Amino acid sequence: SAAEVPLRNLVLIGPMGTGKTTIGRLAASELGWVFVDTDKEIEARCGADIPWIFDVEGEAGFRARETAVLAEMLGREQVVIATGGGVVSQACNRELLEHAGHIVYLHTSAEQQYERTRQDTRRPLLQTADPLRTLRRLMAEREPHYRALAHFTVDTDRKRPRNVAKDIAGSV
Ligand code: S3P
Repeated sequence: SAAEVPLRNLVLIGPMGTGKTTIGRLAASELGWVFVDTDKEIEARCGADIPWIFDVEGEAGFRARETAVLAEMLGREQVVIATGGGVVSQACNRELLEHAGHIVYLHTSAEQQYERTRQDTRRPLLQTADPLRTLRRLMAEREPHYRALAHFTVDTDRKRPRNVAKDIAGSV
């Protein structure tokens, strides 16, 4: 019988502002793999940006698009996949991730997330009166899932993106 080739991909999970996109690009170039970002792919397919999708289709509409894109990306090989921070909020996504390749959790404090996202108007969930409080609440809900799914965890607070990317590439 034909030998089964293991699914080779690397999935980055973690909250908004932890550096999934920046670090994912660097890790992909370390490995010589392709980098994909589910948020960017959703926008490309929809022909609209994330704030528009949330406005018009609601968060539920966005989540449905996210699941479709995630399922497809996970079927590819030798790709580094940056996910959105809320990917773990859906049970169906968690199930997909349980059968995925190598999952890396990029951890950072809510304060760092806040610093890295405070200029940004493209994250609908942070357009609140108190974004730091929102980030803390989302972390409380989501971190148990990030931890349960991850095969490898790395803290991005005090490390340069390039060094984080090297650690990740070495963990595959
Ligand atoms: C979200 C995170 C965003 C994006 C959307 C919702 C979330 O991705 O998917 O705005 O629920 O945390 P990033 O983690 O890349 O900011």
